[in-house]
Amino acid sequence: MIMFSPLFFVLALLTSTGFAGKLNHRGSGLRPKHLRHARSIQARNNTGPGASPYKLQDMYQGEDFFNRWDFFNGPDPTHGLVNFQNKDDAQRKKLAYVENGTTVLAVDDFTQLQVGAKRDSIRIQTQKTYSRGLFIADFDKMPHGCSVWPAWWSVGPNWPAGGEIDILEGVHEGPTNQYTLHTTSGCSLGNLNEKSTSSHILNAECASSGTDNRGCAFSDSNPQSYGHPFNVAYGGVFAHLWDNTGIKVWRFSRDAIPQDITSKQPNPAGWGTPAANFPSDSCNIAEHFFEHQLVIDTTLCGDFAGPTFASAGCPGTCEQAVANPQNYVFAKWNINYIAVYDN
Ligand SMILES: *[C@@H]1O[C@H](CO)[C@@H](O)[C@H](O)[C@H]1NC(C)=O
Ligand SMILES: *[C@@H]1O[C@H](CO)[C@@H](O)[C@H](O)[C@H]1NC(C)=O
Repeated sequence: MIMFSPLFFVLALLTSTGFAGKLNHRGSGLRPKHLRHARSIQARNNTGPGASPYKLQDMYQGEDFFNRWDFFNGPDPTHGLVNFQNKDDAQRKKLAYVENGTTVLAVDDFTQLQVGAKRDSIRIQTQKTYSRGLFIADFDKMPHGCSVWPAWWSVGPNWPAGGEIDILEGVHEGPTNQYTLHTTSGCSLGNLNEKSTSSHILNAECASSGTDNRGCAFSDSNPQSYGHPFNVAYGGVFAHLWDNTGIKVWRFSRDAIPQDITSKQPNPAGWGTPAANFPSDSCNIAEHFFEHQLVIDTTLCGDFAGPTFASAGCPGTCEQAVANPQNYVFAKWNINYIAVYDN
């Protein structure tokens, strides 16, 4: 039985600890006048050679999207009321598929359940691991709704030793996104000037300590950065640059995606103030973040969406919500692509 396979055990252990961090928080024709301007013009020219210092490493998109992701189907480490599906079941039940070139990850929105029962959902993770890079995720839609807790994130081995980077995360019908890092001791935001980001600092300490697993986190100040309002605006792009200088995250609404991203020659130098900035000043990045698998999942209730259910203004109990399939019509990821670049 798969339960007794050592690989499964290791995987379950890694992922269970990996999720533990989520416990408590929760142009023009004008001649360029100087170099910086010249660079940004060049970055927007998709025909110029060498416009971007970053080279495409991996493109996850379209019909072969699922070939390089694994479906995690162990118990949810964050205690959500979900049955994560293996690849065969996920595809047979139409919970994971590619349509019009868009990858869809869905929660079962057709089965009536007993109150307290678990609902079918999806959690996938890349087979490849990364220890740096420029990651660009284009989401047409993301899951939302009472009890719904989706995340686009990455995690290293032996949590929190290998670190965790949460790029897109929230619960229920909240309109704002949260950006979070989780680490071992010796990593914080330091004297970061909040003006170097467009978001609010929620907590400056990245390290988990005792039961405090809040991590260092920012809350996006834009009320279209998550959930229904994000989807209504046709989604957008989350881009994060992870290198020895730190981890920076940019969020672009659909109508403001830089041309260099669209043309697959991204150059963050022209993107302006990031939504979240985790500089290396008070955190040795290479020491705290390594060998990350990229993860996309949707869970229900559990450690984050459970305790916050009532205060979010959701009716009844979280278990009652899960029983009703109509609550999950909008609990879907529509992923245009995820691209990984390196320089
Ligand atoms: C883009 O760059 C190429 C090569 O450097 C140049 O020939 C072309 O005119 C540029 N296009 C625009 C729109 O600036
Ligand atoms: C695919 O295109 C059809 C027809 O325009 C549309 O109804 C459907 O929602 C699209 N699916 C996705 C996943 O975007």
